[in-house]
Amino acid sequence: MRENLINLTYLFASLLFILGLKGLGHPRSAVKGNLLGAFGMFIAIAATLVDRRVLSFELIAFGLAIGSVLGTVMAIKVQMTAMPQLVALFNGLGGVASTFVAGAALYEAQQPSTQQQLLQAIGAGGGPELHFLVATVAAGIVGTVTFTGSVVAFAKLQEIFDWPGFTGVQVLNGLLVAASLGLGVWITVEPSALNVFWMLTLVAGTLGFFLVVPIGGADMPVVIALLNSYSGIAAAASGFVLQNNVLIISGALVGASGIILTQNMCKAMNRSLANVMFAKLGPKAGGSSADEVYGGRVKSTTAEEVAMILESASRVVIVPGYGLAVSQAQHAVRDLTQILEDRGVLVEFAIHPVAGRMPGHMNVLLAEAEIDYDKMKEMDEINPTFGQVDVALVIGANDVVNPLARTDPKSPIAGMPILDVDHARTVIIMKRSLSPGFAGIPNPLFAADNTLMFYGDGKKALLDLNAALKAL
Ligand code: TAP
Repeated sequence: MRENLINLTYLFASLLFILGLKGLGHPRSAVKGNLLGAFGMFIAIAATLVDRRVLSFELIAFGLAIGSVLGTVMAIKVQMTAMPQLVALFNGLGGVASTFVAGAALYEAQQPSTQQQLLQAIGAGGGPELHFLVATVAAGIVGTVTFTGSVVAFAKLQEIFDWPGFTGVQVLNGLLVAASLGLGVWITVEPSALNVFWMLTLVAGTLGFFLVVPIGGADMPVVIALLNSYSGIAAAASGFVLQNNVLIISGALVGASGIILTQNMCKAMNRSLANVMFAKLGPKAGGSSADEVYGGRVKSTTAEEVAMILESASRVVIVPGYGLAVSQAQHAVRDLTQILEDRGVLVEFAIHPVAGRMPGHMNVLLAEAEIDYDKMKEMDEINPTFGQVDVALVIGANDVVNPLARTDPKSPIAGMPILDVDHARTVIIMKRSLSPGFAGIPNPLFAADNTLMFYGDGKKALLDLNAALKAL
């Protein structure tokens, strides 16, 4: 009866996780989705604590207090642009927690005091059953790879570490994979060899380190989504170790959603996961230099001139990018929208799926400034309409509007779907210079006949523009 009740509670919690994930699929329902998921987790934890009465509640309360304080401070203090590294840190901690759970369960399995319990729970033959050992090994390997890989991802994004590794690092990784599996087999054959488990974590930790080391800092968001998926797989494995259904389900959900997100990000960049993991992104030999692309053809403009162009427009599409996030210009862009709408201009936002540095970056940024979701248009919806747009105002975006993706098959962004702003009547680019974006390549859009460059920091330029519009 009691077990049934606990399992029913777990089922309810899992349902809330699934509804929560569904809610996270759209900006409008994301907050509700997040709350549903968190409530599900609260129920799952409460049920587990009630179920396992042997636990020390003082110790749990102590851990909860430390974790809550740290988590709250970090979440409040983190800059939006530093969100990927915070997520990396959380993934890493999730991974290492699964490793410790697996190690502790293996240790416990050797203790005479718990033999009786374990004989019931994990096997009747006097030793742990094979599925318990396989799950322990999986949680140990995947959890530790997640931990060290996430620490490297964090350090690269925080720019405290930028070692690209050495030639042949992939061969070393192959050997480390083989060694981890070999040690895993050893544990399944000889479960009492606890030291082998810790050796396995050492080897898997080295593997996680060298898997992420060669990947460029700018590709880290994709790697973080992948590591997020790994942390879910490790949690699901530790769910099998503990025979806890809700941990298996929630781990599987995180594992699956992480891999879907990774795939979507790769698709939006027109790159394969293998290309992200094993190749460097950057200008390829033979591509045009910045001088060849821009030489004498770039026209600059001023806030006053842009204000006049915008005033005579009837439809304006704003394209936000990484620079809008860096300069924290979301509130200034909301004010610009208001000023234009008051003058009868139709204003919309074109959202590229990988604009910025994390999935949904632009949606979150604009939502923070309370810009209506109805104004945010997905790439597929807005692209066919750029021909009827009077002004495309590109703020701190670069690669996501680079026409080379369409025209140069040798370009590192070849085939990446882009926002077709070049089809608009006038294109205004707001950024500080002609510097390239994440892909490190020049952008011929800046030298196009219908383009004007409005140089400056995103927020400062927008404030100047708003003032110029008000002065008209
Ligand atoms: P980018 O192509 O990276 O260009 C951003 C531009 O912002 C830069 O050219 C920079 O030019 C400008 N900028 C920087 N600071 C600024 C400031 N304070 N004020 C105004 N402008 C500023 O950005 P994007 O167009 O958003 O494209 C995103 C890129 O990141 C894509 O290549 C994508 O594949 C990649 N990526 C995205 C993700 C996700 S999930 N979003 C994940 C991994 C990789 P200046 O220095 O001249 O100002």
